[in-house]
Amino acid sequence: MSTSGVEIRRGLMGVYFDRSESCFIDGSIGKLLYRGYDIHELAEQSTFEEVTYLLLQGSLPTRSELSAFDSQLRSDREIPDGVVDIIDKVKGGHPMDVLRTAVSALSAWDPEVKDNSPEAIIRKGLRLTAKAPTIVTTHERLRNGLDPVKPNPDLNHSGNFLYMLRGREPEEEEIHIMDVDFILHAEHGSNASAFASRVTASTQSDLHSAVVSGIATLKGPAHGGAAEEVMKMAEEIGRPENAAAYARNILDNGGRVMGFGHRVYKAEDPRARHLRERSKTLGEAKGQPHWFEILTNLQEVMKPYQSRGIFVNVDFFAGSIYYLMGIPDDLFISIFALGRIPGWTLNVVEQYSNNILIRPLTEYTGPMDQPYVSIDRRN
Ligand code: ACO
Repeated sequence: MSTSGVEIRRGLMGVYFDRSESCFIDGSIGKLLYRGYDIHELAEQSTFEEVTYLLLQGSLPTRSELSAFDSQLRSDREIPDGVVDIIDKVKGGHPMDVLRTAVSALSAWDPEVKDNSPEAIIRKGLRLTAKAPTIVTTHERLRNGLDPVKPNPDLNHSGNFLYMLRGREPEEEEIHIMDVDFILHAEHGSNASAFASRVTASTQSDLHSAVVSGIATLKGPAHGGAAEEVMKMAEEIGRPENAAAYARNILDNGGRVMGFGHRVYKAEDPRARHLRERSKTLGEAKGQPHWFEILTNLQEVMKPYQSRGIFVNVDFFAGSIYYLMGIPDDLFISIFALGRIPGWTLNVVEQYSNNILIRPLTEYTGPMDQPYVSIDRRN
């Protein structure tokens, strides 16, 4: 409560601002459902295409529905030459800045940009889901002086992303890991970037603008940027035996160990489970088990923090997996964004299903009724 009696909930912590049918989270026990389906079952048995259908259409597809949906996604992957030119012009920027710019530019080529009907938003969301990997990989190739690789319609969403990134067909296991990763990142309720998307949509703007807001908001290390920071930390640590001292030094100086803590989860983030095992096995398969050992040792140091509700989050193991797949550090967060486009789209559809301008208040604490003094009389 403030001095004037106004109740202030900084960071909107614990505030419910609307209802949603997309995502259920019980942070006290680490439970996450997409449209009522447990994230563990989806990660173990589903595919990114199927989860995207589930999120955007509201139910699991039949075989023929999924096939038509998947064909649509595959046929929407190419990006206009004009967007490739823009990517080329800004290729010196961080991949998230380039992705944000290119998604914004895509609106100029989208025939339905102004249509805010649910059907059009879903079609646009699918186009963005399909095209965003092409943006990220086109940028990666151009900044390395390589020609962009055209999408391969014979590969699924995850396989095609890895193919366009590296210019060679990925192994089945890598495609599967990428797919699980995209599933785990697809949606997460009213997180900061989804909320930003909703605020943008609430002004009756459009989906491209809302997704641009989502990308811009995801970029910060308190949200999606942590995977990159975790891997930088692991690289600085270098050897498993250095991990404990490194983390203690951060904590003793009041800092935060990246990849731990979550606004909603006060138990382990359920998404981390699916990446932990893969970080271990991939490290062993690539002859680099020390990354997983470094992460395990960091977890040991952070154990006392569990009593304060600080556990590993989804970003903790993700960075090591991307690294082991040969993906550069500064692309990690873009991968999160690629997975999250269906989630942002769903939030916009929900916002428009019962729209209200999102416009909270701040309590004014500055001076009042100041006399205006003209510039030549100020000293
Ligand atoms: N390491 C050490 N201490 C931590 C950590 C951490 N990673 N996270 C939180 N704490 C401590 C804070 O210092 C604070 O302590 P205090 O009460 O003594 O001041 C307390 O826990 C609460 O922290 P808040 O920042 O108030 O909690 P909030 O819910 O706002 O923070 C956040 C959540 C931002 C994710 C935080 O845990 C953090 O900064 N983590 C590191 C970055 C990270 O991993 N981000 C990815 C999040 S997952 C995602 O977005 C997909």
